[in-house]
Amino acid sequence: MVDSVYRTRSLGVAAVGLPDQYADGKAAKVWQLYIGDTRRRTQEYRSWLVALLKQHNCNSVLDVACGTGVDSIMLVEEGFKLVSVDASDKMLKYALKERWERRKEQAFDQWVIEEANWLTLSEDVQKPGEGFDAVICLGNSFAHLPDFKGDQSDQKLALQNIGSMVKPGGILIIDHRNYDYILETGRAPQGKNIYYQSDLKQDISTSVLWVNNKPHMVTLDYSLEIPQPEDAHTPPDTSKFRLSYYPHRLENFKELLKEAFFGQCEQTMFADFKHYEPDQGEAPCYFIHVVKKNIV
Ligand SMILES: C[S@@+](CC[C@H](N)C(=O)[O-])C[C@H]1O[C@@H](n2cnc3c(N)ncnc32)[C@H](O)[C@@H]1O
Repeated sequence: MVDSVYRTRSLGVAAVGLPDQYADGKAAKVWQLYIGDTRRRTQEYRSWLVALLKQHNCNSVLDVACGTGVDSIMLVEEGFKLVSVDASDKMLKYALKERWERRKEQAFDQWVIEEANWLTLSEDVQKPGEGFDAVICLGNSFAHLPDFKGDQSDQKLALQNIGSMVKPGGILIIDHRNYDYILETGRAPQGKNIYYQSDLKQDISTSVLWVNNKPHMVTLDYSLEIPQPEDAHTPPDTSKFRLSYYPHRLENFKELLKEAFFGQCEQTMFADFKHYEPDQGEAPCYFIHVVKKNIV
């Protein structure tokens, strides 16, 4: 694994990257391969998530970053009523294909999949009554939203829009990588990565971009060896794609969430889907926040 840290004083928006990092279809194409066996992946947190949703009497769930549909599919299979959205049509294509192939199962026939952006969520998604019982945003998705203006205003707007979809008494489940660790060490925690279960040979190189002495962006360059069909007699192909993320620090992210719910919420946090004790054992790869909206 190669890690490097880049520092720069200022950077123009155009140089920073595209909002839809999946637009060329490259990452979407290998995403499923990268995740690996989707059941093996969701098995890691399926019972945790289902128990949490049941504990809060949730039935309707909005997945605001469904991507290729991994988590939504798991929840449809578990009997929840899903509306799944994503900004990337290239990612949604895979979710739509699954729904089509399983359309004879009633739960899949009723699964709603739409294109939507967090910045315009209230226009893009029809809110049922007071809102959804639960909203999920998993797989380090929210960190895809950059901070071009340097004041986190887009992230605040997006979180407010996402929070507005939660009904009073409902919950938001949202995660991000352990960016505190990445910023301190220049590399991702070395422990088991729950979201990536691929057996294929892979590598991630991490770069941190600093602007005006503030960490502005973490770029992960993924490479994955794609096996060739047995009769092809050619060496494996290496697929490369790059994704950039805003490095959310834990304490700041908790504040952003509180603000998004106007302080009217209860917040709990987990690490790699387990109870979190700071400074205990290996650094976790992901932090998962559960925010319950107060009934006022
Ligand atoms: C890393 S993928 C994760 C997808 C899925 N949750 C998973 O774990 O496999 C992140 C997803 O967030 C979506 N996304 C990024 N920015 C978005 C935005 N502003 N509005 C809606 N979706 C967005 C991307 O299109 C992508 O499908």
